[in-house]
Amino acid sequence: MRVGVLTGGGDCPGLNAVIRAIVRKGVQEYGYEFTGFRDGWHGPLDGDTVPLDIPAVRGILPRGGTILGSSRTNPLKAENGVRRVKENLAKYEVDALVAIGGEDTLGVATALSDEYGVPCVGVPKTIDNDLAATDYTFGFDTAVNIATEAIDRLHTTAESHMRVLVVEVMGRHAGWIALHSGLAGGANAILIPEQRFDLDQVCAWVESRFKIRYAPIVVVAEGAMPKDGDMVLKDQTLDSFGHVRLSGVGEWLAKEIERRTGKEARTTVLGHVQRGGTPSAFDRWLATRFGLHAIDAVRDQDWGKMVALRGTEIVRVPLRDATTQLKTVDPRLYTEAGVFFG
Ligand code: F6P
Repeated sequence: MRVGVLTGGGDCPGLNAVIRAIVRKGVQEYGYEFTGFRDGWHGPLDGDTVPLDIPAVRGILPRGGTILGSSRTNPLKAENGVRRVKENLAKYEVDALVAIGGEDTLGVATALSDEYGVPCVGVPKTIDNDLAATDYTFGFDTAVNIATEAIDRLHTTAESHMRVLVVEVMGRHAGWIALHSGLAGGANAILIPEQRFDLDQVCAWVESRFKIRYAPIVVVAEGAMPKDGDMVLKDQTLDSFGHVRLSGVGEWLAKEIERRTGKEARTTVLGHVQRGGTPSAFDRWLATRFGLHAIDAVRDQDWGKMVALRGTEIVRVPLRDATTQLKTVDPRLYTEAGVFFG
């Protein structure tokens, strides 16, 4: 049995931990051989491979990024994409594919598996934590820790200068990173894509914070939108899955707050810092367990499935369930956080 492994979409801390667990258990317990595909779906599409064995995965558990590389290549949009993927799997004698990715990468795995008979197993990753069917994706905990540490630091400098500091975090169309880091970091307002925000209300929260001689920290998710108006974007470029590049709302918000309240406001865009560096212990644990269970699914030939976390159990769910709808923030969770606003 030869198993292909790829990592697609935006990278996140913990990818290497999954690869390591898949290879270690696959070789040691099942006697499998592996082929690494480079840069997401580009690997199987264009036949770009890298050797993957136990020496190749030694020492990678704490390393951020992915030894396989990643990209947002969409083989379903490429000319003869499915045929090329199938031909390359046959050429490299790959019997099964483990795709580690988010909504887009796993969406391709779903189509290849359900519609074109390619034996695929999925592993969910994304700092955004927006995949349905799993309680958490790895990468999210690390991103939240990075954002929380940044907010802690921003509190002290904001206090020294009595300024408003707006912190823009990632998360695409889900507010998980904003909500968790904002709560953990004691933000005075948290703005998420799931609930359009009222600028007057945000300014009122900012002013009430100054009244008690504290400097406000506003955490805004990159996908958050004002009540009256559209999403604020500084770049309209689309990727091959048709997603626009988010970011810009933080800058816009600071300007609006400054204009309306007369208080100095600055923005910190955390950007890719949230995706870099070593994974947290939780993400290493989750990623490792996902890897161990993914190779078990391969052994069971349980194609079209994704490993998922439910409570503390790792279960298998249909890949389709994970990719048909986004897991967004429950309004009750957001309301719960409201007691700290202002
Ligand atoms: O999906 C992960 C993510 O980091 C999002 O939070 C963000 O919107 C996007 O990827 C950024 O993508 P890129 O790395 O292509 O700029």
